[in-house]
Amino acid sequence: MRFLEGHRPDHDLTYDDLFIVPNRSAATSRFDVDLSTEDGSGTTIPLVVANMTAIAGKRMAETVARRGGLVVLPQDVPIDAARRTIAHVKTRHLVADTPVVMSPNDLMANAQALIPKRAHGYAVVVDGSAPVGVVPRAGVGHEIDMFTDLRSAMTPIPVTLPADTDPRVVFDALVDANADLAVLVNGDGALAGVLTRTGALRAGIYRPNVDAQGRLRIAAAVGINGDVVASARALVEAGADLLVVDTAHGHQEKMISALSAIAAADLGVPLAAGNVVSERGALDLVDAGATIVKVGVGPGAMCTTRMMTGVGRPQFSAVVECAAAARERGAHVWADGGIRHPRDVALAVAAGASNAMVGSWFAGTYESPGDLHADAGGEYKVSFGMASKRAVAARSAGDNAYDQARKALFEEGISSSRIRIDPERPSVEDLIDHICSGVRSTATYTGATSLPELHEKVVLGVQSAAGFAEGRPLPGGW
Ligand code: XMP
Repeated sequence: MRFLEGHRPDHDLTYDDLFIVPNRSAATSRFDVDLSTEDGSGTTIPLVVANMTAIAGKRMAETVARRGGLVVLPQDVPIDAARRTIAHVKTRHLVADTPVVMSPNDLMANAQALIPKRAHGYAVVVDGSAPVGVVPRAGVGHEIDMFTDLRSAMTPIPVTLPADTDPRVVFDALVDANADLAVLVNGDGALAGVLTRTGALRAGIYRPNVDAQGRLRIAAAVGINGDVVASARALVEAGADLLVVDTAHGHQEKMISALSAIAAADLGVPLAAGNVVSERGALDLVDAGATIVKVGVGPGAMCTTRMMTGVGRPQFSAVVECAAAARERGAHVWADGGIRHPRDVALAVAAGASNAMVGSWFAGTYESPGDLHADAGGEYKVSFGMASKRAVAARSAGDNAYDQARKALFEEGISSSRIRIDPERPSVEDLIDHICSGVRSTATYTGATSLPELHEKVVLGVQSAAGFAEGRPLPGGW
């Protein structure tokens, strides 16, 4: 990474402050760019989903891992629920999506309430274990009888194929049948999953993030309070592939002792830890046992830390400094927070991050755990910060009323924010396509065919607010 002549900054910068200068490039195809990372997370695209309750649930975890990313379960999830989520993810099909499954006796109202959890827009009706029909999502203004049972409401399955059918063959079968959805079945006729045309296309573009046994990967977070080694061990025994030791102020003694204790337990999974924003902070976490350092104080969309405390650091410079320090010790960084456009992921990689962590942006998708709401502005979900009054209240629910009230005084996050579902990109997979297409293109503009090469070759300039504004399309187009 280098700056254009005369552009080396004398102050810290964030993503919006920067532009990337095109280099002479021999690249011919964006598909030749390798988006994988070598940081132990297994990601084949540079995306990790933040451990936030409103974002990182089981549906998000399977969907993102199938495309090569990684989801970190929040530390607030009780261990039994974490176990169930990990088991769910570990048993998912690597190609077919998991549909909403209903019985012929279920009502249309139940199906219509659950279908929006799936971007593919269908429920599959199953009798015993065999699929017998499908129910599409009702269109707006489309009158349907919500009290009819699915036996009478379902429509025939458009395309049924064996689960191991080549996705390209599934795509062609769907085109031939002029259909959107294929139902995939195992040898015994039991439902294995569903695949849309877009799903079949994506299966040819992305590589799932899989463990040594070929199952989807998932990570989990632990805090720094209580018996951290027991919590970490329980998560690894449940099947977590990577642990994130997480607290807002990662450069504190308690973090270092918690992290050292977990590292000493030698649980056999990579350890990420954070958050920090300085060279010293990064080195201390690496010395305590982290192989990945989580960087970012205050850039998050739900954060109020900078406004409450003045503490933090513009994210690009924080990532540059921490990544350089971590690299000296053979470690890596994740750029955590403030990702709002595909360009931010490219800039995080340019700064030296192996992955960018995304939270709030992904809250506005069908795969985030929250319920779907609608108002005059369209569909939305509600997100909240992990240090907000709401999250703190949930975390301290077992405390007495006095302690609960005392903890709630120290909030540093937004408790409720409506995150719009973009009608053009309602699924996290649409956002992943959008981001990866941007990052692939950044690589070809810089003459790189991999992410480390992008970091090495990138030439950056510093721009004014007007320079950033110039790059934005007309309102309504983005
Ligand atoms: P984005 O911008 O993707 O950032 O939503 C995700 C990261 O934001 C951090 N986070 C918080 N920071 N108060 C904070 O100061 C909060 O309530 C809060 N909740 C999340 C966290 O690092 C996350 O990964």
